[in-house]
Amino acid sequence: MEHTNHRRRRQALATVSATTTLLLLLLCLAALTTAEALREHRDEGGASSSGGSGSGCGSNAAGGKQSPAVWVFGDSYADTGNLGDLGRELTREWYDPYGTTFPGRPAGRFSDGRVLTDFIASAMGVPTPVAYKLRRGAARGLVARGMNFAVGGAGVLDTGNFQRNIGEQIDLFQAQRPPSPPSARGCDAGVAVVVVSGNDYSYAADKDNSTSVRAAIAYIPAVVRQLREQLLRLRDEAGMRKVVVTNLHPMGCTPLFTRALNYTACDPLANAGAAQHNAALQSVLAALDPANRTFLLLDLNTPFAALVDGAAAATAEERFAEPRRPCCESFSADGHCGQQDDSGRRQYRSVLPGSVRRGSSSSSSTSTRPSPP
Ligand SMILES: *[C@@H]1O[C@H](CO)[C@@H](O)[C@H](O)[C@H]1NC(C)=O
Ligand SMILES: *[C@@H]1O[C@H](CO)[C@@H](O)[C@H](O)[C@H]1NC(C)=O
Ligand SMILES: *[C@@H]1O[C@H](CO)[C@@H](O)[C@H](O)[C@H]1NC(C)=O
Repeated sequence: MEHTNHRRRRQALATVSATTTLLLLLLCLAALTTAEALREHRDEGGASSSGGSGSGCGSNAAGGKQSPAVWVFGDSYADTGNLGDLGRELTREWYDPYGTTFPGRPAGRFSDGRVLTDFIASAMGVPTPVAYKLRRGAARGLVARGMNFAVGGAGVLDTGNFQRNIGEQIDLFQAQRPPSPPSARGCDAGVAVVVVSGNDYSYAADKDNSTSVRAAIAYIPAVVRQLREQLLRLRDEAGMRKVVVTNLHPMGCTPLFTRALNYTACDPLANAGAAQHNAALQSVLAALDPANRTFLLLDLNTPFAALVDGAAAATAEERFAEPRRPCCESFSADGHCGQQDDSGRRQYRSVLPGSVRRGSSSSSSTSTRPSPP
């Protein structure tokens, strides 16, 4: 049993990491637009929510111009340390070269640098919410301003490993806060951010014994239906004033798919699947909340697609030389970023953003030399 679990976990986590090595830098573009909307809301809502603190909402709703508490639910695109360190093989986000760019050492983020939680918090002008797992070491004041429950590998539904799915993360949020008196109904718990990056679909594809994208696509209605339930809970049970939900990036442009194509192209079927999920999500949101009063879509697809296309708005200087190649890549086809051999030698090459020359005045293409070992 232990072995089976171990293997399943390893498989699931391998999938997670493969889909999360993409640079997340461009996400902040999308985050900014939504943050703008949230900031406006904060200003307009300031007066009406004043005196809200201590109402039992378990929030900071202290009135005036104070920023809202931010509660994050989701997967590795948002995780800032909730998936514990189980060793280099299983949880490589705690090992080199993860975290090299930010915060400067491996710290449980599935990125060389910032993840979506950092970008959104920064765009909203608030500190990055504390990871649930790291809450005991955090300053009291910070914990009151929100928390991050997102954990790498999680899905809307179960993904075959042991991560809390979105519903269970919301349960945890509910269990964390002080019980609220019945009179506190309608109180303001803050802003929820829900980050769903496709683990449900990787799981459905794996279960079907291959990278069967069709099995994943068949799963879309079930995933979106459950996502809708959880979004409603955040508004109606948890009392979130705003609920921000991400759509899917073009999944067929992630290394999981582009590697097999030598990084020359994206997988059209996987991209069609992401588009279908996004259309279903958008129609759910439109039906629930046509005026966008509570539910806001954070569009990750558009900036990601622009990045990997290498065309779109980017000038020649802003383009990556090979936009579909990950910044960290193992030497062998079945290896992974961060892999070492038995004597600790790196089995991967990485090109971190800090070492990539960008924006040179000439039109020469971006230099992407492997960093020295
Ligand atoms: C899954 O793959 C394994 C080996 O690759 C094979 O033995 C098995 O029959 C396959 N199962 C299905 C349902 O296709
Ligand atoms: C993959 O692309 C590289 C250049 O980026 C090229 O040198 C190599 O031959 C290509 N491999 C295959 C299998 O097409
Ligand atoms: C609500 O947001 C969607 C994007 O999710 C947008 O297409 C729509 O126009 C917005 N509606 C209003 C009334 O602003």
